[in-house]
Amino acid sequence: MRFIAAAALTLALAACGQPGGDAKNDAPPAAKAAAVQEYTPEQNAAAIAALPAPLNTANYENGRRVFAQCRSCHVVAANGRNGVGPNLHGVIGTTTGGHAPGFNYSPAMRNANLTWDFATLDRYLERPMAVIPGGRMAFVGLRNPDDRRDVIAYIAVESQR
Ligand code: HEC
Repeated sequence: MRFIAAAALTLALAACGQPGGDAKNDAPPAAKAAAVQEYTPEQNAAAIAALPAPLNTANYENGRRVFAQCRSCHVVAANGRNGVGPNLHGVIGTTTGGHAPGFNYSPAMRNANLTWDFATLDRYLERPMAVIPGGRMAFVGLRNPDDRRDVIAYIAVESQR
């Protein structure tokens, strides 16, 4: 009897000591370092208010919600990766085709020679194919002007972070 109990205990301990058993629960250091910093609604509102008009009247939360439609193809993070679309961090004010060097822009985008100021972004996000005919952004567009303003403001704020 006592022998069986001891054997069972030994087996249980051996199972606990399986190599790698605990390591699985430890997040790799890279994942810890990449933890996203959280900003308060007050900090977001202050960042919006500091933008040039008309972005200074935007709604950050709505911009973040609208950006959900872009996330399948874009990130807007410092050192973020290009996906189906280029990383949008810092895109405002750059020239078409020049913002994300590692990204394979369409010839139409490379040759468009436009500056991504508010007015151009606003038109592009309304109807991408009208502004860059033959471009590769397969997105139908945002009809609501407030949604366009808010998502551009969201990109502007996130580009400062
Ligand atoms: C289905 C994928 C897809 C979706 C969804 C999408 N995009 Fe794009 N976007 C692209 C691609 C691809 C390009 C590059 C187009 C080209 O080279 O012609 C691009 C280009 C851009 C550019 C120009 C970037 C630069 O580096 O010059 C901006 C700005 C942009 N997208 C904003 C947005 C926003 C904002 C949304 C959401 C409202 C959005 N996109 C949704 C795929 C997408």
